[in-house]
Amino acid sequence: MKILVTGGLGFIGSHTTIELIAKKHEVVIVDNLVNAKIDVLTILEGITNETIPFYPYDVTNYEKMSEVFQQHQFDGVIHFAGLKAVGESVEKPLEYYQNNLISTMTLTQLCREHAVHKFVFSSSATVYGDQESPLMEHFELKKTTNPYGETKAMCERILSDVGHARPAFEISLLRYFNPIGAHESGLIGENPNGIPNNLMPYITKVAKGELSKLNVFGDDYDTVDGTGVRDYIHVVDLAKGHVAALEHLTKGVHIYNLGTGKGTSVLELIQTFEAVNHVNVPFEIVARRAGDIATCYSDASKAKEELHFVAEKGIAEMCRDAWRFENNQLN
Ligand code: UD1
Repeated sequence: MKILVTGGLGFIGSHTTIELIAKKHEVVIVDNLVNAKIDVLTILEGITNETIPFYPYDVTNYEKMSEVFQQHQFDGVIHFAGLKAVGESVEKPLEYYQNNLISTMTLTQLCREHAVHKFVFSSSATVYGDQESPLMEHFELKKTTNPYGETKAMCERILSDVGHARPAFEISLLRYFNPIGAHESGLIGENPNGIPNNLMPYITKVAKGELSKLNVFGDDYDTVDGTGVRDYIHVVDLAKGHVAALEHLTKGVHIYNLGTGKGTSVLELIQTFEAVNHVNVPFEIVARRAGDIATCYSDASKAKEELHFVAEKGIAEMCRDAWRFENNQLN
């Protein structure tokens, strides 16, 4: 299939591009480079040994995106492009609603105009809000704690309504748990601008000595050791989950968790990182972070049954691959 990948130079989009090409799909990338580097394109072309058509456009720009749809007859779209920093979304809600909603609506409109029926959307476990894990796809969604999370819930709603109004559409809403790790080549991975917000990129900066210590946000949650529990999934497994979702699409709107079904605490992740990489990660327990929940992990059985997708890589591989990528960074 010929697939448009928006945000294809970002963390998850770049890994998915590799897995799509490995399965003989053709990829065209649109990415406005707001949170990605153009060098990633060259690296992707090196890893895949393919020339990948690339457009540095903003997905909210209907005219520019229309040109792309005229130049290529796509079989499907995987929509990753979006703003994703939780804290920033609280400071700049309008930018988040504007960017994340308009991009999704623009793409959906173009898909309708060009009879592109397959649409895979990058959603998040954050749409479940604070409710008891394991989280299942049929659960009623609870209010999320920030505008970023709301944009994901709203995009799911928009795509569901479009899917019901236009039965030709084949839509998959993928709710990611916590993607970490990097490609085994060590050449692509997660490289956020500035000081990282998420746990793994912070750990790698501390291990490297660029940041002095990790703040562990709370050790008084009702969990195995008091620290937050999350369902970490290797980004390469997550990427394979997208290919499975795309290849199994059928008419209608489908929702899948992409996780491992297992919870890991902050302290367990730190200990594994130290053990497999033979490095120290100094940390300090500090107050809870606003908006955090104690425990969040998936029930991964629906993706297993319907997509035949099971995440294969464990925490040790995630830690090893994240560290290998960090050590390849020049900054
Ligand atoms: C966060 C977002 C979520 C988003 C996801 C993207 C919040 C509340 N949620 O999820 O909406 O989809 O990132 O990957 O921000 N932790 C520390 N110290 C740190 C950083 C994190 O102890 O410096 C802890 C957190 O308290 C949490 C765990 O590590 O228990 C994971 O945190 P993080 O990587 O930020 O992911 P989430 O909060 O699960």
